[in-house]
Amino acid sequence: MASTSATSLSIGSTLSFGHKSRSLAQPKPLGVRLKSHASLASFSGLKATTSVSCEAESSFLGKESGVALQRSVARKPQKQSQRLQYHLQPRASFKVAILGAAGGIGQPLSLLIKMSPLVSALHLYDIANVKGVAADLSHCNTPSQVLDFTGASELPNSLKGVNVVVIPAGVPRKPGMTRDDLFNINANIVKSLVEAVADNCPDAFIHIISNPVNSTVPIAAEILKQKGVYDPKKLFGVTTLDVVRANTFVAQKKNLRLIDVDVPVVGGHAGITILPLLSKTRPSVSFTDEEVEELTVRIQNAGTEVVEAKAGAGSATLSMAYAAARFVESSLRALDGDGDVYECSFVQSDLTELPFFASRVKLGRKGIEALIPSDLQGLTEYEQKALDALKPELKASIEKGVEFAQKQAVAA
Ligand code: NAI
Repeated sequence: MASTSATSLSIGSTLSFGHKSRSLAQPKPLGVRLKSHASLASFSGLKATTSVSCEAESSFLGKESGVALQRSVARKPQKQSQRLQYHLQPRASFKVAILGAAGGIGQPLSLLIKMSPLVSALHLYDIANVKGVAADLSHCNTPSQVLDFTGASELPNSLKGVNVVVIPAGVPRKPGMTRDDLFNINANIVKSLVEAVADNCPDAFIHIISNPVNSTVPIAAEILKQKGVYDPKKLFGVTTLDVVRANTFVAQKKNLRLIDVDVPVVGGHAGITILPLLSKTRPSVSFTDEEVEELTVRIQNAGTEVVEAKAGAGSATLSMAYAAARFVESSLRALDGDGDVYECSFVQSDLTELPFFASRVKLGRKGIEALIPSDLQGLTEYEQKALDALKPELKASIEKGVEFAQKQAVAA
């Protein structure tokens, strides 16, 4: 296993504030902790070789890559055996598969995951165009080996031995479409991919990005149940982009240091089901009623902002890839034994009467270790009303997913 000291990839947008032993009732800020400012300094990755000497341990290039670069700068002869050892014994030890890797999200997400020092193998699967993406990425001198898999016949092999499966396969929204409009196409794609996950890597963490997440996650759960391998602790709807957006917009509005801001976002991942809990913002900050209304609506509609700006060319891809990479990195840190990893995600839940609900969760080696209820306590009147209002819509989307999967099972 890679040691935690090698995990300081600075994908997270928040820092811990020194409360290392916070109790569950007082959750720590979301996201990836940075272990030193060296990792923050290395985030761009575009560093001149002159600065390599102080970088190696914390850079996402990985210690070995840093050492290799230093050697190349020093022009010392390098024995063949040393190079072989690097390739055969990377510190990284986790395998990640991306299904839909050639897409708008899949490509930048693959690049960000290729940068992780925790990943030893990166499996890229798509129905088309994935060979070139893999060839391109494989030239980056980071530890993971990149393998490509094209089409249904290669899907099983792309999943063998994998620890984390990320699913951004599907069609994105066009202007005028809601996430629900994507249901028919993406429901079938998610169904067939999750069936393959169940058959080939049933113990993996599964990260569902394909929309509508409020329905595709319940579909995935039903498929896994039908296959007899459902572990609710390992199935996640990726809602990290809502948190990333909330943090950004709040920091801008209140002139806060972006890296300090942490806003939990609960509920679901579409329209009014996205509920940022602004009253729980860290650091503590007060908002006028107008600010709460404006920020809440902006966070809920941020996806549409991007869809409209792209004018028919798709939905959020780069910010989504950033958010998904953060969630992958958090999962890998949890798998690696870091006992201090918290993220918001849409998961099976008993925090409300709904069977699935996005909230902050604590991640561990076996998946979700705890759902964090404290964010839902002491809500403002605005938040409580919004929570009550989102429930019928979220319930309907969950039921639509469950019905779809059950009908498919009967038809089969
Ligand atoms: P895209 O169209 O650029 O890429 C989708 C990729 O999926 C393509 O490469 C396509 O070949 C592949 N694909 C289609 N069917 C497949 C199958 N059966 N197996 C494997 N791959 C398959 O779309 P984009 O922009 O990357 O979006 C992907 C999904 O992510 C959409 O459903 C979109 O709505 C969703 N999304 C989710 C967000 C979230 O916050 N959870 C945010 C933004 C988008």
